[in-house]
Amino acid sequence: PDMEGMGPAVKETPFTTPLRFPETVTGSAQLTAKSGTEAILPGKNARVLGYRNGILGPTLRVQSGSEVTFRFSNNLSEDSNIHWHGLLVPAEMDGHPAQVVRAGESFPYTFRINQAASTAWYHPHPHEKTARQAYLGLAGMIIVETPTERALNLPSGSYELPLIIQDKRLDGTGSPQYTPTMQDVMMGFMGETITVNGVGGAFHPVATRMYRMRVVNGSNGRIYNLALSNEAPFWVIGTDGGLLPTPEAVTALLLSPGERADLLVDFSKLPVGTELYLKSNTFPGASAQGKQAFNILKFRVDKAETDSFQMPASLATITTLSTAAVAKSRSFSIGMNMGNMNMGNMKGMHTINGKVYSMDRIDETVKLGDTEIWDFDNKGDEPHPMHLHSTFFQVLSRVGGRNTLFANEKGWKDTVLVMPGERVRVICRFDKPGLFVAHCHNLEHEDDGMMLNFRVS
Ligand code: C2O
Ligand code: CU
Repeated sequence: PDMEGMGPAVKETPFTTPLRFPETVTGSAQLTAKSGTEAILPGKNARVLGYRNGILGPTLRVQSGSEVTFRFSNNLSEDSNIHWHGLLVPAEMDGHPAQVVRAGESFPYTFRINQAASTAWYHPHPHEKTARQAYLGLAGMIIVETPTERALNLPSGSYELPLIIQDKRLDGTGSPQYTPTMQDVMMGFMGETITVNGVGGAFHPVATRMYRMRVVNGSNGRIYNLALSNEAPFWVIGTDGGLLPTPEAVTALLLSPGERADLLVDFSKLPVGTELYLKSNTFPGASAQGKQAFNILKFRVDKAETDSFQMPASLATITTLSTAAVAKSRSFSIGMNMGNMNMGNMKGMHTINGKVYSMDRIDETVKLGDTEIWDFDNKGDEPHPMHLHSTFFQVLSRVGGRNTLFANEKGWKDTVLVMPGERVRVICRFDKPGLFVAHCHNLEHEDDGMMLNFRVS
């Protein structure tokens, strides 16, 4: 059901299915993209894509400093590839839209991980096919570990929950369907069923403990305003590029497609038997979404345990990039090009500086090692989560719209939400040579052309 241009309303299914966790693989792995079946809703075997026998892919746990090989085999009947969203990898390993692996072929993605402890993810990135492939189930989480982070003794093992949140539009067989209309391309393809790790209506039993939740918004277009149903505060401890300087207590956190949130949620003072939801609150500023509050995942406190967890006073040291070092500022007008809409096809409505993405055009040339400011100006009426490959950035300012910076913007980011009427400036250093893309992580917008090539040399 379409709520008059507001996108499909979320239909809550009873939260009765145990949450599943994709298997964890440590170090190198074989990742095969293929079709398979798995229940998203109880009793209905969905036809999905995955990097395993079912939806999604394994959680990859990697140590910073180590070299890994992820051998990718493409068992689909079309081009695919893998982008390591949040890993700093050489350009030829980054899954650029033009670097595809043909149907039936394999490619070894090999690189050394050298970055702070963080939550990253992986998904396909082939030209104009990203949205459909990711939506049908190709995505997985990556956890980067370091000794420094381990020394903080954050909740781990069964007290650390990897959560990939996605919305799906399911047909009568319970299978996700990807048939975007013109309106879906404008707003992003949104679904009525909210899934966590590929499960709709999921619940998870917890103990009276502090839990770490690593949340990836793996949705094509939907933004979540994460909150707890008892309105209790929770802590943001990390964002896209790793831990924040200090834990930030919040009662809600907006997470747009592509962004990650590393959270601590305290169940330690709740009586056994308590039921609590991770939910999405309403939020202003995005015309086509945010009007509806809905539950995402149910927790039930099942077990009393003693928790000796101590909230660290500080988490990580983040060196502020200085604007005095900026070699160049670039501005990007992001939005719709209505002129393109009349061409009778659905491609090319979304542009950056008026241009639709072309694989053969280099839009920006950046000097290796330079620090730059990238300025995203959203004069349209759709939210755009803007993502840069190859680097992490710091958010300098947000003017217009919400007019402020948020808790998760106090650390290294690779995706930043630019709401209608907002102008967001980010600062970053380009340390990896080669050809990369920057784009909107609303995957319909991306595939529609809201992407650019930049070459660092
Ligand atoms: Cu997760 Cu280029 O994207
Ligand atoms: Cu967008």
